[in-house]
Order: sequence, then C-alpha cells, then structure tokens
Amino acid sequence: MFSYTLQKTATDCGARAGQIETAHGVIQTPIFMPVGTLGTVKGVHQRELAEDIRAQIILGNTYHLYLRPGLDVLEGAGGLHAFNGWKKPILTDSGGYQVYSLSGQRKITEEGVTFRSHIDGSKHFFSPERAIDIQRSIGADIIMAFDECPPYPCDYRYAKDSMHMTHRWLKRCMAQMGATSGRYGYEQTLFPIVQGSTYPDLRRASAETIAEAGQPGNAIGGLSVGEPAEDMYETTELVCGILPKEKPRYLMGVGTPDNILECIALGVDMFDCVLPTRNARHGMLYTAQGVINIKNAKWKEDFSPIDEHTPCFASQQYSKAYVRHLMHTKELLGPQIASLHNLSFYLWLVGEARKHILEGDFLPWKNQMVKQMQRRL
Ligand code: GUN
Repeated sequence: MFSYTLQKTATDCGARAGQIETAHGVIQTPIFMPVGTLGTVKGVHQRELAEDIRAQIILGNTYHLYLRPGLDVLEGAGGLHAFNGWKKPILTDSGGYQVYSLSGQRKITEEGVTFRSHIDGSKHFFSPERAIDIQRSIGADIIMAFDECPPYPCDYRYAKDSMHMTHRWLKRCMAQMGATSGRYGYEQTLFPIVQGSTYPDLRRASAETIAEAGQPGNAIGGLSVGEPAEDMYETTELVCGILPKEKPRYLMGVGTPDNILECIALGVDMFDCVLPTRNARHGMLYTAQGVINIKNAKWKEDFSPIDEHTPCFASQQYSKAYVRHLMHTKELLGPQIASLHNLSFYLWLVGEARKHILEGDFLPWKNQMVKQMQRRL
C-alpha cells in the first residue's frame, strides 16, 4: 500500500506539506529519515527513535545488509522490520551508491556491477534484478531503483552514457518488481532516481524519463557529491519543476540543516543524510541558534542544557559541560546523547517547516532560520 496526499503548496516558493501512507504507517512531509545503514541508527534505541524523537521512517542499505547479516538471516527473521523491531516505515537504498563509494574494486557493465566486499574482499554481483530481489528479502516499504551515481566532477559524455544506463536499469527494476511480490504480506513501492550530474539538459531529460515511468514517488540522486551548493540548488529546482506535483520527491543524501530548508523551499518532500549522526559522534551539535563543537574548552563549565528548544529529553536534560566531559573521556554515552539530540533537532526542524507551510509563512521563517543555523557558537 502506498499513497500520497498533497495538503498544501506555498504560494511564494515551491514548499509543500503532504502525507504518505504505507503499510507500516503514515509519514508527514516534509520529512527527514534517520539513516540506519545496517538496520540500526547508530547508537540510538528503537524506543528513543519512535517515542522520544518520533522518527516516522528510517533507512536501511541493501549493500550493507546483503553483506551482513546476509539474506538468510533477514529472511529467517521475516524481514528487517521483524529483525530490528522497528514497526514504522523503512526505505532501503538499492546499494549502487555504496558499491561505488565503498568497494575498492568494481566493474560496471550493462548487465550490472561486479564488486569486492569492503569487509573481506569477497566477490559479488549486483544487477537491477538482484537489487530488487534483495530489497524484497529485506522488506522495506519504499525501495530504490538500482542506479549509477556518477562522481563529481564528471565529463559530459560519461554523465550522459551513465544516465541512459540508469534509465535502462530502471526498466529492468520495474519489470522485476512486476514479476515478483512482497515476501511478507505487504506491498513495496519502487522509487526511480533522476541522474545527469550537474548538466541542465541531462537533468531535464532524466527528470522527464523518470516522470514518465509513472512510479508513485520519485528521487533525485547524484547530488551532494562535492558540487557547489548553488549547483545542487539549481539542479534540484530544475528537476522539481518537471517531476509530478502529485507524487513525493526524495532528495538523496542531503544534507546540512540549511540545505534541507533550502531544498524544501524548492519542492523536496523527503531527505536522508548521515550528517546528524556522523557529526554527533565527532562532537558537532546542531541547534536553531547555530552549530556547537561540544569538545571546545568554552563549554567546560557551561551547565546549561545542550539545547532547551529541541523537544527531546537528551537535548534538555544533559548539560553542555557534561556532554563535553563524556566526549573527552570517550564514554559511550557521549555520542549517544549527541546523536539523539541531532536527530531530534533535524526532526523538529522539518516538523516546524511543515507547520509554517501549513500556516502560510514558511519562506520568511526559512530565511531567518538559515541565517541563524549557519552561525558557529
Ligand atoms: N544516496 C545519495 N545519492 C545517491 C544516488 O545518487 N543514488 C543512490 N542510489 N543513493 C544515493
């Protein structure tokens, strides 16, 4: 089951509020999806995710889950939901992106990608059909087409050939979806991915092809790979102008809090990024007032809460001085508190964005927030 209802579009920018329904529940958009590559959002309990910070959907990754714990374990458990105990929606990336970024040796042909595991060097092969079959075994509600995410910078010829191959792979993914069904008694929905590097004519052609595929939701890939933020915004704007209004749009791997607000303004509904959890583990905390490096000496005797405005017990209960102490002493709880706070802040931010879209004053609120959040405290 999958449906999207567009509830409101801003009149002075492209921002939208909507609602997605899946077999595992409702997602109110715009939304941020915490990344749980290996079936766990690093350092965060399911109960904290679901009840404290109210995550509505989390991500898993095909490449990582296929390598570990492997499909036998996932199928034996009855899918990822049963394995990790997360009862709400899950989205899985198709693995292509991780094969390119993690696997040292890989060979890309029309048939698919041969690669070596980054863990033990063993040899594997992913094709569009295989990526669908694996995502059937994992059992995510939303599954991604197998694509090639070209590096940045990328010459025009490579970007064009790669984009066409991603389009041909999409046809094979759709055929495999049609030839198979959900293993665990509920439907899964395939999102195709727009590619085309930073070339406007390629992005236009790709967005048109992806729109014509007629899937219930669409994604924008190949961004936040090192290009200037302006290129990312221009590409996102161009693609959002072509993708259908009545379907959700997912911008993959983006980004910082201000990237997210800017891209909401351009018409994006769904985001995921490792930044809030990865940076948390290194002591970087996001707040509405700016970014905190909690390891700095300036917080040594600051006994005020991490962030009294973020609605999470971790943000409001623990002091900056205490979290700094935990980080300096390499206590496990430090990264846990920091991850919980950052995710809570990201979810608060997209929730506020949604509220302001519904109330009609998103754009001025966004402009003010972007200025505030870019400060270093
Ligand atoms: N995650 C971030 N960017 C991408 C992309 O272009 N493709 C896929 N499959 N995943 C991504």
